[in-house]
Amino acid sequence: MNEQKPIIAVGLASQEFPMLQDVACRDRNGRPFHYLDSAASALTPESVLRAMDGYYRQYRCNVHRGMYDESARATEEYETARAKVAGLLNATSEEIIFTRGATESLNLVAYKIAPQLGPGDEVVISIMEHHANLVTWQQFAKQYGFKVKFISLKDDFTLDIEEARRLIGPQTKVVSVMQISNALGTVLPLTELRNLARQNGALFVVDAAQSIGHRPVDVKAMDCDFLAFSGHKMYGPTGIGALYGKREQLNALNPFLYGGDMILEVTEEDSKWNELPHKFEAGTPNIAGAIGLGAAVDFVTSIGVENIEKHERTLAREALNRLTTVPGLKIYGPSDEGLDRGGVVSFNVEGIHPHDMTDILGGEGVCTRGGHHCAMPLMRRLGLPGTTRASFGLYNCEKDIEALHSAILKAIKTLKA
Ligand SMILES: Cc1ncc(COP(=O)(O)O)c(C=O)c1O
Repeated sequence: MNEQKPIIAVGLASQEFPMLQDVACRDRNGRPFHYLDSAASALTPESVLRAMDGYYRQYRCNVHRGMYDESARATEEYETARAKVAGLLNATSEEIIFTRGATESLNLVAYKIAPQLGPGDEVVISIMEHHANLVTWQQFAKQYGFKVKFISLKDDFTLDIEEARRLIGPQTKVVSVMQISNALGTVLPLTELRNLARQNGALFVVDAAQSIGHRPVDVKAMDCDFLAFSGHKMYGPTGIGALYGKREQLNALNPFLYGGDMILEVTEEDSKWNELPHKFEAGTPNIAGAIGLGAAVDFVTSIGVENIEKHERTLAREALNRLTTVPGLKIYGPSDEGLDRGGVVSFNVEGIHPHDMTDILGGEGVCTRGGHHCAMPLMRRLGLPGTTRASFGLYNCEKDIEALHSAILKAIKTLKA
């Protein structure tokens, strides 16, 4: 019988990443480099580096202002990048606001919506939320007197949708949730949450930091009011991301920051705002970052977001299969059986602190992350100091999982000796 080669024998397009010398998973200096920290930040391919370098070398001028070729080119490339992001999300360009990343995008929404809320109003989020979507609402709740309600987890690490049905009601003004948990890999039931938000006239906000570039995301099908993400988690540069907002929602909001570019007319007494999306982009933007993000969109679409999703899913399945055979190891996240999940595998080994585990793995060239993953309330609910998290990108392959597995066994031997 012909033995089928597993699709994870090699990573997708791993040769495109300067930090990964080749599919043997070594770095430029020939040291083992098993990068399993893509949920924190995904590596950058050549095409993204080239796009940013091209801007700095050939037309590094400001946008929207200059009446000369280089500035016109900068504007064109910057706006083309916006159109690429819009295309990836099935949005229109005017609905895409460039920000520093998911954190700033989520803050923008909260800064603008929270002042409209007050005592008696509620914002519903999940207990899994990243601090970027939790601390923001929590702090504004103190300032404006509304309440934040948390939807909890079930024992299988999926969202307790029954509790969501109980919590979301006419008093709910915003439902703001992540699409995929960065700490557990749980995929949240967005359609049902959106329906609950709509039935109660609440805004629906999605933190897509872990999903854009990892699975298809269509804001029209999702019917969200706002959606936030970061470029660096989808193979783009750091310091750039975007906020998608439905045109009518963005039009209803006042600007976030004041300054150049976001105005049409200024007098001593008052100002008129520029049209979308410029109304929300005060000052000189991260031009190289936006152009790099546009190149990252080209990169993921050339591979196929569906292919990336399939690949990461296969890697997660393989990692779950291997890791569950390790004595004393517990996985924190949905099983692969019949549940949708992202490419994140969180675990602890009985009697070993996640920082110690992560430290030893790092020494073996296996790059994971240990700690609370910016989800302290979640860790508290789970009664954990944190977890060790392995997260996959399109460049990972079977060798990375083998290396993870053997480094965990080594850590156990060392720490339990
Ligand atoms: C789910 C989620 N939301 C928000 C963020 C914040 O992203 P950034 O730090 O790029 O703004 C992260 C980062 O890990 C995340 O995983």
